[in-house]
Amino acid sequence: MSEYILEIENLEVKYKEEIALSGINLKIKKGDFVAILGPNGAGKTTLLKTILGILKPVKGKIKIFGNSPSKIDRRLIGYVPQYIKENASIPLRVIDILKMGRYPRLGVLKYFKQEDEIKVREIIEFFKMEDVKNKLFSELSGGQKQRVLIGRALVNEPSLLILDEPTTGLDVNSSEGLYGMLNNLHKEFKLTILLVTHDAMAVSDIVSSVACLNKNIAVHGKPEEVLTEENLQCLYGKHYMLFGHGKIPHMVVKKINKKDESD
Ligand SMILES: Nc1ncnc2c1ncn2[C@@H]1O[C@H](COP(=O)(O)OP(=O)(O)O)[C@@H](O)[C@H]1O
Ligand SMILES: [Mg+2]
Repeated sequence: MSEYILEIENLEVKYKEEIALSGINLKIKKGDFVAILGPNGAGKTTLLKTILGILKPVKGKIKIFGNSPSKIDRRLIGYVPQYIKENASIPLRVIDILKMGRYPRLGVLKYFKQEDEIKVREIIEFFKMEDVKNKLFSELSGGQKQRVLIGRALVNEPSLLILDEPTTGLDVNSSEGLYGMLNNLHKEFKLTILLVTHDAMAVSDIVSSVACLNKNIAVHGKPEEVLTEENLQCLYGKHYMLFGHGKIPHMVVKKINKKDESD
């Protein structure tokens, strides 16, 4: 068995004739915390969906836990998809959403055993959701909603957690809280994490490596080596602003000006 949980070689993915990803190489080991940075339309979500077997590559090789994505064991992976507005009004209680995360581990009748109930309770404790567990999902704040969706992914006890821009729409405090929680999961529980994000700050402090994606992966390495102003400008373009102090830019924000409005 290879030392890698995920191995991607020379991957190409197309939507009809449009090439979304090409020449992608990426390897992730057990216990890694990898961030993927890239502008909108760079193919980040496409890459995650290909890893999950939702999209099929036209070229190249992917192995996840030693298998092709089509043979994925759903118990091994927790996936937190990119935030979709429509999901905000899901008419379900928090507890029911958390329980749904356990489905891949239940039998065909979806019967909850004691161990399943215990796991759901553990997640409620870890996320301090005792007060909100009986609330409707639609009544929660943005930060609480994201915690529920991450909780749902973790109830399944995955070996790999994949998150697609989990801080979209969150304020700075909620974002920091969420990254602190991911750091905790990585450090304390040795969880392997693949995170798509725009926040260079979060990645610089807590991840083991950063990959810059724009149809292909130009660089992948330690945060302090990858997060240079030059790399980020190259990735996001000149009309993006990099905030922060010291060597590592903290956050990448699109400048609002006339040119962007016509983009
Ligand atoms: N279902 C789809 N059909 C056709 N083109 C798509 C589809 N989904 C995404 N694309 C295109 O593929 C490219 C990459 O999209 P995506 O992976 O969503 O980027 P990102 O997540 O980095 O913003 C974009 O040009 C997008 O328009
Ligand atoms: Mg996306």
